[in-house]
Amino acid sequence: MKKRLLGALISSAMVASLLAGCSSSNSGTTEPVTDGGTETEQTTEETADTAATVEEAAQEVAENTESADGELIDIGFAQVGHESDWRTASTKSCQDVFSEANGYNLSFVDCDNDSAAQLEAVRSFIEQDVDYIIIDPIVSTGWDTVLTECEDAGIPVIVIDRTIDDSDKYAAWVGSDFKQEGLAAGEWLKAYADSKGITEINALVISGTTGASAQIGRSDGFKEVADSYGWTILDEQSGDFTEDGGQEVMESYCKSYEGKFNVVVCQNDNEAFGAMTAMDNAGVTYGPDGDVILISFDACTAGLEEVKARKITADFECNPLAAPTVEEVIKTLQSGGTPETEVYMPEHWYALSDAIVEFSINGEAQEMTEVTDEVIEAQY
Ligand code: AHR
Repeated sequence: MKKRLLGALISSAMVASLLAGCSSSNSGTTEPVTDGGTETEQTTEETADTAATVEEAAQEVAENTESADGELIDIGFAQVGHESDWRTASTKSCQDVFSEANGYNLSFVDCDNDSAAQLEAVRSFIEQDVDYIIIDPIVSTGWDTVLTECEDAGIPVIVIDRTIDDSDKYAAWVGSDFKQEGLAAGEWLKAYADSKGITEINALVISGTTGASAQIGRSDGFKEVADSYGWTILDEQSGDFTEDGGQEVMESYCKSYEGKFNVVVCQNDNEAFGAMTAMDNAGVTYGPDGDVILISFDACTAGLEEVKARKITADFECNPLAAPTVEEVIKTLQSGGTPETEVYMPEHWYALSDAIVEFSINGEAQEMTEVTDEVIEAQY
């Protein structure tokens, strides 16, 4: 449904419903009619005329609707790629919500972690004159020009998951507090290490895609805590949020830092799976019973299964199910309202019972969720 048509439809529908309200109690007698706040009298003949006008208005709405693309709302979604379990869950969530059955026509582009391809996808949506554009920005900068083009074309943009840091030309953002996730991982580690009598932390970080706000926030949050407790971060290299990337970086870490590290922080579950393979091959033990504390982010089903298997020591959720909230934003915009401009997804911190410890972030006590079969079953 095109925006220029929407205005006509809304005003036709308003006229129709106002007129329908007038005719609903038509019984051949005079009926009160509200006219600019003044009650007037309407005769039977006038009521019949009104009924005809209602039919005409309804017909006009129907014709307008049919001449549009079957009333569907056109949405273009420029997705990051398919690098992780998290991403698969995010894509599925959007495809489920923005289905034809729900009244949408979704153009989906998997940008394969290529920023140039993502800009091109957005421009192709402008050319298609879609009604809304959803962007999950691979990196947080380089957006102002293309968002200005969206604005000039009158197409509202909704940003999901990662943030855009160099432009505010979008209607709303729905996503995660990545810095909070990094702070949570750090403060949990402090409390857990204390509970085990571990006084020295030598950490290796496998970060996500460089320049993605998910990477920046998690790195900054964890580093802030590390600095405050005087820990050593031996190295931080990107595994690009992939299993292969995680394995490759961990293989090199196992050689360069053999016997020197007791914590590995992977910025998503898939990197953790790759790091586990590398540590297995190098004979390094990890998890609540091993020599290395293994921290992960995302807490997708497969990640929580590795927590249950005592491989990942703690997993910090990044919630991929933003689509229902994005739909709320679109409904608000459709009805001419102003949506909330920032919506944070609810997130939980997961571990087995023997790795659940009390901790707080900037004085705010945090709750942890114990990983059980039911919890895993309910996850994405
Ligand atoms: O932006 C969210 C991050 O991107 C998730 O942590 C990761 O799995 C994905 O690739």
